[in-house]
Amino acid sequence: MASLAVPLSILLLFAILSNTFADPDPLQDTCVADLSSSVTINGFVCKPSNNVSANDFFFDGLKNPGLVNNSLGSLVTRANVLMLPGLNTLGVSLARVDFAPGGVNPPHTHPRASEIIFVLKGKLDVGFITTANVLISRTIKVGEVFTFPRGLVHYQINKGAGNAAVIAALNSQLPGIQFIAETLFAASPPVPDKVLAKAFQIGTMEVDNIKSGLAPKN
Ligand code: GLV
Ligand code: MN
Repeated sequence: MASLAVPLSILLLFAILSNTFADPDPLQDTCVADLSSSVTINGFVCKPSNNVSANDFFFDGLKNPGLVNNSLGSLVTRANVLMLPGLNTLGVSLARVDFAPGGVNPPHTHPRASEIIFVLKGKLDVGFITTANVLISRTIKVGEVFTFPRGLVHYQINKGAGNAAVIAALNSQLPGIQFIAETLFAASPPVPDKVLAKAFQIGTMEVDNIKSGLAPKN
C-alpha cells in the first residue's frame, strides 16, 4: 500500500497543477454561455439546452481583414466566448491580427493562455521575453508558426512592404490581454507618477507626457 501512496499523490498533484495552468475541463458536452445572465461564476452559466442552436458555435468575423485605421497600424479581431458563446468551458479561442505596413501589435501578455500564431499573409518580426529578460525572436512568413508561452510579454511587427495578417489560437475561452504601455500609463485610476518615475528612472514630467499620449481604455 505504501508503494501506491507516492504515485497517487504525484498523480493528484499533477491533476491539480494541470487545472491550475489552463481553463478547467468541461463537465458536459456543451455549456453554451448565457451572456445575459446576472449569475456570476468562473466562466458563464449554461443556456437551457432547448435554446441552443448551431449559431452559438459559429462566428464569421475572422474571414475578412479588419480595417486598420489606428496609430499602431494593427487590429485584433477576437473569436472568444464573448463572440462565440459555444466556447464556454471549452478552453480555446482564436484571434486574427491584421497589420498595415510597419504596423505593430505592441508588447502585451495573456494571463490565461499560451498563444500560437499562423501567418496568413506577409512577413513579421515576432518575439517574447522570458522571465530572465531574454528576448526570443525571429522573422516569420506565410504558412509559418510561432508560439508565445502563457503570461510572457510578446509582440509582432509587420516587416514587409504590404499588409500582413496572422491567425492566433489560444488555450483559453477568454485569454485576457494586458498591453504593457496602457496597463502602466493609462490605468484608471492612474498609477501614481512617482511609482512610474522610479520604476522607469525618469522624471514625472516624462511620465505625464507618456500618459497624455495613452488614453484610458475601459
Ligand atoms: C493576440 O495576440 C491578441 O491580441 O489577442
Ligand atoms: Mn498575443
